[in-house]
Amino acid sequence: HKVAEPHRPQFHFSPKEKWMNDPNGMVYHKGVYHLFYQYYPESTVWGPMHWGHATSKDMLQWEHQPVALYPDSLGYIFSGSAVIDVNNTAGFGKAAMVAIFTHHNPKGEEAKRNDFQNQSIAYSLDDGKTWTKYAGNPVIKNPGIVDFRDPKVMWFEKENKWVMTLATKDRITFYSSPDLKNWRKESEFGETLGAHGGVWECPDLFPLTLNGKKVWVLLISINPGGPNGGSATQYFTGDFDGKTFTPFETETKWMDYGTDNYAGVTFSNTGNRRILMGWMSNWQYAQVVPTKNWRSAMTIPRELNLKEVNKKIFLASKPVKEFDKMLVKSTSASNINIKNSYNLTSKLGAASSLFQVCLNDITANDFSIVLSNNKGEELLIGYDKAANQYFIDRSKSGIIDFEPGFAKKHVAPRISTNKNISLKIIADVSSVELLADDGLTVMTDVFFPAVPFTSISIRSVKGVLVKNIQYTQLRSTVK
Ligand code: FRU
Repeated sequence: HKVAEPHRPQFHFSPKEKWMNDPNGMVYHKGVYHLFYQYYPESTVWGPMHWGHATSKDMLQWEHQPVALYPDSLGYIFSGSAVIDVNNTAGFGKAAMVAIFTHHNPKGEEAKRNDFQNQSIAYSLDDGKTWTKYAGNPVIKNPGIVDFRDPKVMWFEKENKWVMTLATKDRITFYSSPDLKNWRKESEFGETLGAHGGVWECPDLFPLTLNGKKVWVLLISINPGGPNGGSATQYFTGDFDGKTFTPFETETKWMDYGTDNYAGVTFSNTGNRRILMGWMSNWQYAQVVPTKNWRSAMTIPRELNLKEVNKKIFLASKPVKEFDKMLVKSTSASNINIKNSYNLTSKLGAASSLFQVCLNDITANDFSIVLSNNKGEELLIGYDKAANQYFIDRSKSGIIDFEPGFAKKHVAPRISTNKNISLKIIADVSSVELLADDGLTVMTDVFFPAVPFTSISIRSVKGVLVKNIQYTQLRSTVK
């Protein structure tokens, strides 16, 4: 492949040009995945928000589409969700695509009012191509809460109603509606639970199954206050009865411990599959990262599932099965005893900045996987036995001086109690996604080397035994 622009991701979604943040309105409809996103088409920094739009048959090869929603007299178009109104509850038309979003009024903000964020809807009768905003907007008026936004709506089958999960400053507020237009407040959650280092944003609520039982997952993005600084996404598992969310546990858990997976939510209308994409950046430095024509990308689409460890329930992530299409060619090695250093590049013919490396059954001792280039820059991904933590260290990863907190080592707890470690690492020019122990511990980090990292080696001073290493080159989807 040809990397025409430095640092341009090759199989992660990024806008052709200009500023992007949160994924919005992700919905599967008639065989097509729709991704809308916070977009400012005039600049590479945040500004008056639009909903950009892209479509895909596999969530990997995306087609750019015209902007879907423009700011209007009620304000900018902030984050939200989309549903397919199969039963035509809103009366917009059979199987209309309906977007539910926050109208953010900059004039109200300037005047220091406390009611400038309100919830509105819009619909499309041509599969997301053109949109009509509802004449009765807003559908939920702000009761006097400055941070009042990011509606995520789902159909609650049992009671034939829509449920909205809304971020309301330091808690979640649940609403319900028969028709997407008239909403009733049901309950609040979280004022005294979870992490509160920053404001709550971009929530999501959905059921998953664990050992045949339904478990509800509540995702809440928070900015700042993430485990490694800046913005990040925490989650709770619990019960939801259509009105109230009751958590099983009160400890704070993070969906991703890296610094670059924010505002992630799941697609609507995907049946039993729960597929998440997040914004692969962090408010701490998103607006100053050294890319030129565009800013930021989304994570790869990940399927979420639950796992039980020591009687506690955890969220686990894995690449969607469609990701297999990205695999070009694999080489592997078995039963390797690594003492000091093992050069994957020469041993496995591994030399690309787009790759997946799977290390299976590693003895749990200190080790690191080193991605490097010929400029002496490197990114370390590894495990620290004494702390029982995974880490990604980007302190020498290339361009780091654009923000003082960027060059850091990030850590994440190892959750699995398995004796040996298994890791999957997915790298794409300027990002790495670490899925450890079948996705129980996840870290996503971006980095900006002067030239791509195409060398890989494994270092272990103490020595580790690896049952199997598989290196796979990945395909570019950039046209
Ligand atoms: C999260 C967020 C949302 C808001 C949007 C504005 O990154 O702050 O809460 O709707 O971005 O662009």
